[in-house]
Amino acid sequence: MLIDGKAIAATIQKEIKDTIEQLPGRKPCLAVILVGNHAPSQIYVRRKTEACAEVGIISIKRELPPTIAEDHLLQEVKQLNNDPAVDGILVQLPLPYHINPMHVINSIDPLKDVDGFHPINVGKLLSGDRDGFIPCTPLGIKVMLERMEVEVAGKHVLVIGRSNIVGKPMAALLMQNQSFGNATVTIAHRHSTQLKQLCQMSDIVIIAIGKPHFLTADMVKEGAVIIDVGINKIADSSKKSGYRIVGDVDFPNVKKKCRYITPVPGGVGPMTIAMLLQNTLQSFQNQDE
Ligand code: GUN
Repeated sequence: MLIDGKAIAATIQKEIKDTIEQLPGRKPCLAVILVGNHAPSQIYVRRKTEACAEVGIISIKRELPPTIAEDHLLQEVKQLNNDPAVDGILVQLPLPYHINPMHVINSIDPLKDVDGFHPINVGKLLSGDRDGFIPCTPLGIKVMLERMEVEVAGKHVLVIGRSNIVGKPMAALLMQNQSFGNATVTIAHRHSTQLKQLCQMSDIVIIAIGKPHFLTADMVKEGAVIIDVGINKIADSSKKSGYRIVGDVDFPNVKKKCRYITPVPGGVGPMTIAMLLQNTLQSFQNQDE
């Protein structure tokens, strides 16, 4: 059965919109910084700012040239840190090679770090402190599984991919001693051996590696839950655009074997955006406390 991330995200966005409509004064505001001409990033940022408009969050978009000096970018972040009208700051990744992403992430005020990438927020997540920001994609997967009433406690969960954006925070969330958590978590990556056996042992597989059709039906346990975070462009001459978007899972074949599966597009992606809106609203509410 499909998990309709798009529909779940729409429900959450409606809840956020209703909350924002009730606010008497100032509205929440998200600042998005986009550096350079990375085409997928341009699309993601457009989706994020459009979603802000749909729910009544003000968005500020700063588009900066690919040649911008790191110092100059840090100044831009600092200005947003000091602006009381800005509740959330997001610097879209990846950044051009001459800029160290750690320097930029570390410069964001942790109280406005709605991506949850600052070491303070990473540390809070790992230590079980609930008042930090949690990265939007793992948070979206958590909310999606909760709404589908998929129990994770005691389950074997395999996370394939160890990125700071998805894999690592996803594993941290799943292993917490909290209401969503208590799973037995394995993280696999490009050096892992016996991946097929690890998959076959897993009740839930979350894959975020950017390789089309990587997870095949023979790898999957009957009745497993499959969460596909991949977004890959592949050639398709039957489409007007000449391409289509697929995930990391061989969807048509894996679908037949599993209990739940997320489609691409329309699965995890919309949930990520809904969580960005939720974190921005949360940040706004924290600032006004
Ligand atoms: N690049 C890919 N995913 C993300 C994300 O969630 N946040 C930011 N800032 N950049 C990304």
